[in-house]
Amino acid sequence: MASAKKAFFCNSCGYESPKWMGKCPSCDSWNSFIEELVQKPTAQVKSTFISKNKEKIKPVLLQEIQAGTTMKTDTGDDELNRVLGGGLVSGSLVLLGGQPGIGKSTLILQLALRYKDKVLYVTGEESEEQIKMRADRLSKVETRCHIYTETNLTNILAEAQHMQPGLLIIDSIQTVFNPLLDSSPGSISQVKECTGDLQRFAKESNVPVIIISHITKDGVIAGPKLLEHIVDVVILFEGDQNYSYRILRTMKNRFGSTDELGIYSMEADGLKEITNPSEILLSQNEDELSGIAIAASMEGLRPLLIETQALVTPSIFGTPQRSATGFDLRRLAMLLAVLEKRCGLPFGHMDVFLNLAGGIKISDPSIDLAIIASLISSLKDIHIGKNIAFTAEVGLSGEIRAVSRIEQRIQEAERLGFETIYISKYNTKGLSEKHKNIEIRWLSKLDDLLEEIFG
Ligand code: TYD
Ligand code: MG
Repeated sequence: MASAKKAFFCNSCGYESPKWMGKCPSCDSWNSFIEELVQKPTAQVKSTFISKNKEKIKPVLLQEIQAGTTMKTDTGDDELNRVLGGGLVSGSLVLLGGQPGIGKSTLILQLALRYKDKVLYVTGEESEEQIKMRADRLSKVETRCHIYTETNLTNILAEAQHMQPGLLIIDSIQTVFNPLLDSSPGSISQVKECTGDLQRFAKESNVPVIIISHITKDGVIAGPKLLEHIVDVVILFEGDQNYSYRILRTMKNRFGSTDELGIYSMEADGLKEITNPSEILLSQNEDELSGIAIAASMEGLRPLLIETQALVTPSIFGTPQRSATGFDLRRLAMLLAVLEKRCGLPFGHMDVFLNLAGGIKISDPSIDLAIIASLISSLKDIHIGKNIAFTAEVGLSGEIRAVSRIEQRIQEAERLGFETIYISKYNTKGLSEKHKNIEIRWLSKLDDLLEEIFG
C-alpha cells in the first residue's frame, strides 16, 4: 500500500506546501503551517454529483447575455436581505462565519422557518430533536424545512439533487467530509474541497447554498480567508456574548455593497431585528454624570448614535493603566498623547478606562471627538449637557477633521431630539439643508472644544 501523502497548510489562508515553513509566502503570517494528510481527489471526487447541463458551454457575447435573470429571493428577514444586497441570489454560495455560540444556527434556522420554498437543513452538530426544540422556541409556523443529520458530503449532495430544495443549508462546514479524502473533517483540505464541491453544486443546480463556519478568536481553522475566494458572499456574525446585541457584517459580496449591516438582539425566543439601534444604545440616564459623551457615528451606511463613557483617575502605580472596550487601544493612546501635547492636560499620570455602550465595536474615526470630550469631562469632572452630540475625527496636531456623510449624521441626531451637534469647521461639503431643531457648532481645533464646553 502506498504511504499516505502529507502536506503542510497555512492555517490562515490555506496555502499548501510540501515542507514546513516559518512564514507563509502567501499571507505573511508566522508559524501558521500545520501538517495534514492529503489524498488528492481523483476524477471521481470531482463528479460527486451529476451535472444536469451536459451540453458544452460556449463563449457568449457580452451584449447577448440577458441581464436581470438572476433572482433575488426574499429571506423574510429585512436585516439579512439588506446584508445580502436585496435577497438570496439563486445559485449563490454564502458563507456565514462567527465564533461558537454567537447565534449562527439560530439565525439560519429562523431563516429556514420563514423561507417560502422547500429547505434542506443539513446538520452535523445537533440532533433532530435539538433542532426541533429550538424551532419550537422560535416560532410555531408550519414550514417546509427538512432536517437531515448527515456529514458525508456525497450523501448530502445526492439527497439535495433528489429533493431539489429551494435552499440548502450546511451547519457546519467543519463537520462535513468528502469520503474520498483521507484527512479528518474540519481539516483544511476537507473544508476547502467540500466548499468547492458545494460551489459547483450551487452553480449547476441554481440552488442557493448557505454554509456555516466557526471561527476561533484568532481566526484559525477555516477562517474566512481560507474560503473567501471560493464563495460568493462572506458574512460575519459578531457580538459580545455578555450583551444581547449581534451585528451581521458583509466582508465580501459579489451581488451588492459590503457597507450594509444588520443589527439584532438575542432574546429568549430568538433573534429580533433592531430597526432603531440608536434609541437602544443611548442610556436613559437622568443624572448629570461626568465622563459621558454621545457620538454620531456611522456603521456601514447606517447612522448610529452611541454613548462613549470614560473614567480618568490618578494612577497609583508608576505605569498608568489604559483599557478600552469597543475601541482600538492604540487609537486611545494616540488621542491621550494629543491631549497631553496639544492641550497640556495631565493624562500621563492617569489611569484611563473607556467603554462604548452595548458591547458594540466601532471603527469609524468620527467617534474621536466624543471620546476626547468624555475623557476631558471625566478628568475635569464636568458634566456635558444631555442634548449634545459630537462627530469629527481628531488629527495628530489636535485639529478637528471632516467626516463623511455628515448630513445623515446630523439628521439622525436631530431625529433623536439632540439640540446641538459639534462638527468640524471643514465639514461644509454635503451640508445643504437647513436644520431647524438642531444647532450646528463648528470647531477647528481641540482648544475650541475646551473653550466651548469646559471653558
Ligand atoms: P447558536 O445559534 O447555537 O450559536 P452558534 O450556532 O453560533 O454556535 O446560539 C447559541 C446561543 O444563543 C445559546 O447560548 C443560547 C442563545 N439563544 C437565545 O438566547 N435565545 C434563543 O431563542 C436561542 C435559540 C438561543
Ligand atoms: Mg451552531
